[in-house]
Amino acid sequence: MSSGQIDQYALVNPTVSYELAQQLMQQSRQLKRLQLNQRQLCDLELIACGGFSPLDGFMTEADYNAILTSTRLTDGQIWPIPITLDVNAAFAETLNLKDKVALTDLEGKILAFLTVSSIWQPDKLQEANCVFASEDSSHPGIDYLLNQTENYYIGGKLSVIAQPEHYDFIHLRKTPYQLRELFAQLNIERVVAFQTRNPMHRAHQELTLQAMQETGGHLLIHPVVGMTKPGDIDYFTRVRCYEHLLKTYPKDSASLALLPLAMRMAGPKEALLHAIIRRNYGCTHFIVGRDHAGPGQDQHCKPFYHPYAAQELVGNYQAEIGISMIPFQEMVYVRNQQRYLTKNQLTETDQVETISGTEFRQRLTDNLDIPPWFSYPEVLSELKQLYLPKNKRGFTVLFTGLSGAGKSTLANILLAKLLEIGGRTITLLDGDIVRQNLSQELGFSKKDRDINIMRIAFVASEITKHNGIAICAPIAPFKQTRQQMRRLINQYGPVIEIYISTPLAICEQRDPKGLYVKARAGEIKDFTGISSPYETPSNPDISIDTSEIKRETAADIILTKLTSYGLI
Ligand code: PPS
Repeated sequence: MSSGQIDQYALVNPTVSYELAQQLMQQSRQLKRLQLNQRQLCDLELIACGGFSPLDGFMTEADYNAILTSTRLTDGQIWPIPITLDVNAAFAETLNLKDKVALTDLEGKILAFLTVSSIWQPDKLQEANCVFASEDSSHPGIDYLLNQTENYYIGGKLSVIAQPEHYDFIHLRKTPYQLRELFAQLNIERVVAFQTRNPMHRAHQELTLQAMQETGGHLLIHPVVGMTKPGDIDYFTRVRCYEHLLKTYPKDSASLALLPLAMRMAGPKEALLHAIIRRNYGCTHFIVGRDHAGPGQDQHCKPFYHPYAAQELVGNYQAEIGISMIPFQEMVYVRNQQRYLTKNQLTETDQVETISGTEFRQRLTDNLDIPPWFSYPEVLSELKQLYLPKNKRGFTVLFTGLSGAGKSTLANILLAKLLEIGGRTITLLDGDIVRQNLSQELGFSKKDRDINIMRIAFVASEITKHNGIAICAPIAPFKQTRQQMRRLINQYGPVIEIYISTPLAICEQRDPKGLYVKARAGEIKDFTGISSPYETPSNPDISIDTSEIKRETAADIILTKLTSYGLI
């Protein structure tokens, strides 16, 4: 396909004129505001820049239903994944059709106005089944849908007044218009896009080079820098790696640009979305490899998607979308031929060399040799900075249990023992310390406790990110909030949950602060265990009943566990 043909796929431009933007801003004081989260900001950016063309706003209920049932918008165009704006019930109830809502970034700056044309409560399980072909919330996309998405969706056209701001890698941030223009200026007719959310090594380079040869096309390395799979390597490191790799291609044969997409990890349906997006960015060909945009295995160790299901789906729709798929099998290094081949090119006598992801990370961590056939020294030295040995990386210890159960005592003993061992920075976030310093204004309602725990979680996640140890000792009575806390911290390191299971009767007997007596007398409201629930952890790393185990023994159990996890 030539670039002339691409032009029939017109880009949407929801950015309004300067005059209209001024008018809208003047009205904005009377309008409701909605601060978008990171996912919503990514979606807004792709609508605003034309990357999600033909979408010109967040989806309405009619389009949402149409794509769930037929993978098409109501006007018949192919679209695989809902791009919806979720809001909570309280906000949804204040809205009427035709209202304008000012959408802001995380700092409160207005980026766009949404004219509401649809408000509805989605059936999330149906959405999970249609988009992800599963309801298993170990799938990050399903987890986001079922556990982190609000219960109402609002849809309507956008009037964009500003794109979300970025201050990093500005030279690599290119809109669909800019890339189309660049390819036209350089007289490039064929562009092969390579989607990635991982660092690229020699295998990826070989694969892309083969795709370039096959098509005679220019290569666009188009990594996702919005949201990817939790636990993925941060995009700053990845982009530095891509910049190194770019230099290994023949001069002017490849470009690098960043895609601010929030991935859903929806396998085949996501591959289709990726293809549409790359068509919008002016590409004529799109590489679909093995298990494209798949999140790996489900709870029963079965892959969520067949490794070549994405190729089949994109293959079926490629002509209609207007981009040609370049399917690839897995590439492997063949020792006897000293080159990469796809698995289907191997003969019986070929000797394949592999380094698994786990082994690769271990070699980086242990500073062991990684052969030149696997990667490039510049890429490896970037990655080495991330792979500190486990006992130098950050983690969080969460003590949870009733008031008077012994959390603070054990947390303090653990702190002392870790300081004695030395070599680490450790912060104690005890319940009382946090309430004095961070949460003085909060009480003990469910809402206030959740805010308190998420503040602790935020601080612990920062400590963990910077390779420190955070020891937290709040009551943290609610399971779901503990899960949220874990989710936030797990991006940077593990959370070791220690349930101090000392029974209520013993805590009440101890009553070190005289609070149980007051709670029983009704002088303190919402007291955990008395007039407010404590939800027992179902799968803690350790359970300790301090009425049965001496505190020194308990501390030893914890230290042994941390050692067995390789954390100290
Ligand atoms: S929570 O639920 O995690 O936010 O609670 P937390 O911040 O850990 O509570 C800290 C201490 O507050 C005292 N306190 C109460 N606890 C429970 N319920 C009520 N209503 C309450 N009012 C005051 C209590 O002593 C907690 O400290 P610990 O160290 O657990 O005894």
